[in-house]
Amino acid sequence: MGRGAIRKGRGRSTDAAHVPVLLREALEYLEPERGGTFVDCTLGLGGHARALLAANPTLRLIGIDRDPAAHKWARRRLAAFGRRVLYLQGEFGDATELLRSVGVEKVQGVLADLGVSSLQLDTPERGFSFRLEGPLDMRMGDSGPTAGEIVNRYGEADLVRIFSEYGEERQARRVARAIVAARRKGGISTTSELREVIHRAKRHYGRRRIDPATQVFQALRIEVNRELSGLERLMGQVADLLERDGRLVIISYQSLEDRIVKNTLRDLARGEIDEVTGRSRSETRLLEVLTRKPVRPSEAEVAVNPRARSARLRSARRL
Ligand SMILES: C[S@@+](CC[C@H](N)C(=O)[O-])C[C@H]1O[C@@H](n2cnc3c(N)ncnc32)[C@H](O)[C@@H]1O
Repeated sequence: MGRGAIRKGRGRSTDAAHVPVLLREALEYLEPERGGTFVDCTLGLGGHARALLAANPTLRLIGIDRDPAAHKWARRRLAAFGRRVLYLQGEFGDATELLRSVGVEKVQGVLADLGVSSLQLDTPERGFSFRLEGPLDMRMGDSGPTAGEIVNRYGEADLVRIFSEYGEERQARRVARAIVAARRKGGISTTSELREVIHRAKRHYGRRRIDPATQVFQALRIEVNRELSGLERLMGQVADLLERDGRLVIISYQSLEDRIVKNTLRDLARGEIDEVTGRSRSETRLLEVLTRKPVRPSEAEVAVNPRARSARLRSARRL
């Protein structure tokens, strides 16, 4: 079966298993009842999109996702909303250009629910999960290097850097060394082979809650998909994309992403600093941050949907 292809049976279970994260909270901050054009930068399976469209019949939604398989599924799930939805395949880091290509300059709401979708995670052929046997792919879109190419070709020092920076993996050196040694014996081509190498390389991981391969898999996914630079590019555009009083909601799943969101919102909310007084010049403030602290899922939500566990939502309003 080729990349992105989905078996019928799997599709049905993916549809049923997919629960949008922090949905009620996202809607509270986005206020779809205001109507207008909203952009969902991470359409995925269309869960948040469907709720936005259902909340207000005058709302139009532009759904961006770089994964062609996501579009296929979202189109099916959102079919009932017909021409109120516009689908754009591409990177949200190119949001301004993508929206311009369909004649849209400003929107009332921007949503990004970062990370991988359950569709991506649960499809073994995509190689995102160390729990499922599959090739080391991990590409969300249809271009760029695969995780296998990185694991088998990057120099040891680069692997160490990626694992420690993007995975905050304390035993990055050990793991990188073990990977390079495994390459000499014929390379690493599947998720379970890589997991095995990581498990053998890591010491003293004891009885931890998470699998010892978690951080290295996360790091590879971030590198493959250039996730942090894409988020930085998106955050650099949000203030210009939003109409006055427009709302922004970003849901992130790990601290590196959340830091980028938090810092950008802080800077945009502070505006320029007056050199003489040291105070922020209020007329240059672009956003008001609506979430002093990130919003976390309730215990009840995590019980129903364990993937929500690490989610953090931040929101802002365009001034
Ligand atoms: C967590 S899922 C979104 C789920 C969606 N909110 C729902 O309710 O179904 C994240 C989606 O964002 C997409 N994505 C991640 N990074 C992206 C980027 N830089 N540009 C465009 N899409 C991206 C992924 O392909 C994935 O489908």
